[in-house]
Amino acid sequence: MTQEKEKIYIVGNWKMNPPSLDDAETIFDEMENDAYRMRSDKIEAVICMPYLFLSDFDAKGEIKLGAQNLFWESRGAYTGEISSEMLRKVGVKYVIIGHSERRKYLGETDEMVNLKIKACLDGGMRPILCVGETLEERKRGEAGEVIIRQLEQALQDITEKDIYGKLLIAYEPIWAIGSGTTPSTDDIMGVGLLIKKIISKLYSREIVDSTPILYGGSVTSQNCFDLVDKTGLRGLLIGGASLEAREFVGIVKEFVK
Ligand code: 13P
Repeated sequence: MTQEKEKIYIVGNWKMNPPSLDDAETIFDEMENDAYRMRSDKIEAVICMPYLFLSDFDAKGEIKLGAQNLFWESRGAYTGEISSEMLRKVGVKYVIIGHSERRKYLGETDEMVNLKIKACLDGGMRPILCVGETLEERKRGEAGEVIIRQLEQALQDITEKDIYGKLLIAYEPIWAIGSGTTPSTDDIMGVGLLIKKIISKLYSREIVDSTPILYGGSVTSQNCFDLVDKTGLRGLLIGGASLEAREFVGIVKEFVK
């Protein structure tokens, strides 16, 4: 049995794709058909798809279901929003929170991210908290500061008990998303260590060990293994490559070997 501490998380983020449920079914079914090749107690494979498609898929299959966002209130007059209860009821296990695209296009702040993490945990699902710097921030030498701020504010007033075995953190440098460029594995390892240091200031050693850190940004089946193996991280958050069933399965298979 693989210990939870050693588990690798391969998470696909479909973003606002594909355009129809039929297309989503084609991709997901192809992945599930290959699932026997991905089966391993070492790996957790997750697809975070648009809300609209979630209830059409088997939440008990080999690939777990994830959402890309939620709202912090549980019900009421919040036009266009989706609650944690709604997501849990369709079998969602993971929710991406604070993705840089939501911060950029929807004005999501660290305070909102904090409220959403609380709602996700209250709803019994696992938040995947995204942090990462812009190219300008990196050039100004502020990447570390940005990540410290994002983490500290996202986790404000959240206890050790709340996040034990639940929280995942994804380091996604914004300049690496969809660009075909990734940081060096040394850089990623450095940020991984920084994240662990921040978590160890806020919580105990058990929380540091129980919180997987993932990398996201231009992951492919070609670079995926090194991005985990050479960085000491515990998984990947994958955009574009998760929309191609064969590519996603190929990535998972790299870790099943
Ligand atoms: P890409 O893998 O397409 O660069 O996207 C990364 C991402 O934003 C995942 O959340």
